[in-house]
Amino acid sequence: MPGTAPWWRSAVIYQVYIRSFADGNGDGIGDIAGIRSRLPYLKSLGVDALWINPWYKSPMADHGYDVADYRAIDPLFGTVAEAEQLIEEAHGHGIRIIPDMVPNHTSDRHAWFQAALAAGPGSPERERYVFRPGRGPDGALPPNDWVSSFGGPAWTRLPDGEWYLHLFAPQQPDLNWQHPEVRAEFESVLRFWFARGVDGFRIDVAHGLIKHPELPDLPPRPAGVGRRRQHLDHPHWDRDEVHEIYRAWRKVADEFPGDRCFVAEAWADTPERLAAYVRADGLHTAFNFDFLMSRWDPKDLRAVIDDSLAMLGAVGAPATWVLSNHDVMRHVSRYGRSAARRWVANERYEPEGPLDLELGTRRARAAALLMLALPGGAYVYQGEELGLPEVEDLPDSVLQDPVWERSGHTDRGRDGCRVPIPWSGRTAPYGFSPEDASAAPWLPQPADWAARTVEAQSGDPTSMLELYRTALRRRREHPALGDGTLTWLDAPAGVLAFRRDPGFVCVVNLSAEPYPLPAHTEILLSGEPVEDGLLGPDQAVWLAV
Ligand code: GLC
Ligand code: CA
Repeated sequence: MPGTAPWWRSAVIYQVYIRSFADGNGDGIGDIAGIRSRLPYLKSLGVDALWINPWYKSPMADHGYDVADYRAIDPLFGTVAEAEQLIEEAHGHGIRIIPDMVPNHTSDRHAWFQAALAAGPGSPERERYVFRPGRGPDGALPPNDWVSSFGGPAWTRLPDGEWYLHLFAPQQPDLNWQHPEVRAEFESVLRFWFARGVDGFRIDVAHGLIKHPELPDLPPRPAGVGRRRQHLDHPHWDRDEVHEIYRAWRKVADEFPGDRCFVAEAWADTPERLAAYVRADGLHTAFNFDFLMSRWDPKDLRAVIDDSLAMLGAVGAPATWVLSNHDVMRHVSRYGRSAARRWVANERYEPEGPLDLELGTRRARAAALLMLALPGGAYVYQGEELGLPEVEDLPDSVLQDPVWERSGHTDRGRDGCRVPIPWSGRTAPYGFSPEDASAAPWLPQPADWAARTVEAQSGDPTSMLELYRTALRRRREHPALGDGTLTWLDAPAGVLAFRRDPGFVCVVNLSAEPYPLPAHTEILLSGEPVEDGLLGPDQAVWLAV
């Protein structure tokens, strides 16, 4: 439709962590067949698109973020033909498909890395990665002091004496993005999938591709206050030259009909730095991790909202909002700590104090209404619509995230937010796998999830699932919601209240006192029943005015 804004400016994108979404063939691991069988569910939930975590051929050292072949689907998940069927069927339901693209590193089993190993030091094959001699008399020390995001040094030494860089696991060697073949190859891979009908890509570690040419040691951290708000000239994160790559990618996307879109996973120090990724000739949108990392606190949230809208608005990009994903503790469990605190990117989030699940759930309901009322687009991580908490008591013996090993068993990693989805029934696997499955789900599901299944929540007006369904429906129907602007309304310090035109107000009460609702013609939706016109603590409401 000419003259209408592109879909991605207001889309609600549902994140499918494929391994844990739905298992079609009964081997205990989610797959494409499982996603296809659940498309009617996603349609009834009311999401616009699916972001699907990596599905490419992979040895699964980091569950698919170690890609061995970008043009093949891993047999665990299916085939390219099945991916094409999924794309077509999803489109038939009006749902777009956004796979993950992993350009910062390949798998160590990728043909290029295998060739680099075989060819030896000084070979052109090694130039597609970051190989260096070591420091010290025998070259026995790594080339610099960079650390892996999963713990330990970012360098591994080969028997021939050279070291290679991996900002993540040793099975994920970093590519050299100064190399023209690397650039050409990824543009070709993007075209391969665009031609198969995908509507865009989520770009993994979009801020990491360019390294300082001299690979200097890390700069000292600025001491004291304001650390996150200050941009550091970092040797491998968020370097300015990275944007050239995305300007070229934008041209690739623009070769294809329809509105294809890129979503950046970029961790930037400031909202200004984040906005640089989504300028008109760059990527389209970026995850707003400041929102996810914010405390459940009215002042902090309002500051994040204002900064995000201002900085993204200044470059003409829509804001996006996200509360959870496959890398972070689920927000029911974050908000269920009385001191739910803000955390710092690239540092481990340690929850403080005992979990109050009832509090966390109430806040999560309010947070959903806040997120879905804000201008722009939103991300929903599979299971958040079921109010799933983090599974914090997985036995050590089942943990699979490489973080667990790499940290020397000090960081339990991200498995707790990746437990397979409960669909139906009273006991595990809760419909995640078919009845005649040959294997149990790859991570054990809690014994007390029967009340959290899609089946148990469907039709229950008090459930999280029905709250999301209703909110997504109202959001689609209401002309004020999605892309646009907001106007803050006068409210006490603990209350966030804003208006969106025409005729919509969202009020979130983060104070300890009930708050009398402003004048309205109708309550469109509330997280909890509103009594005597008072909005209780940690509650939110949508009003028609
Ligand atoms: C991103 C992904 C994460 C993965 C890492 C390495 O941060 O979200 O899951 O482990 O990149 O690819
Ligand atoms: Ca399977």
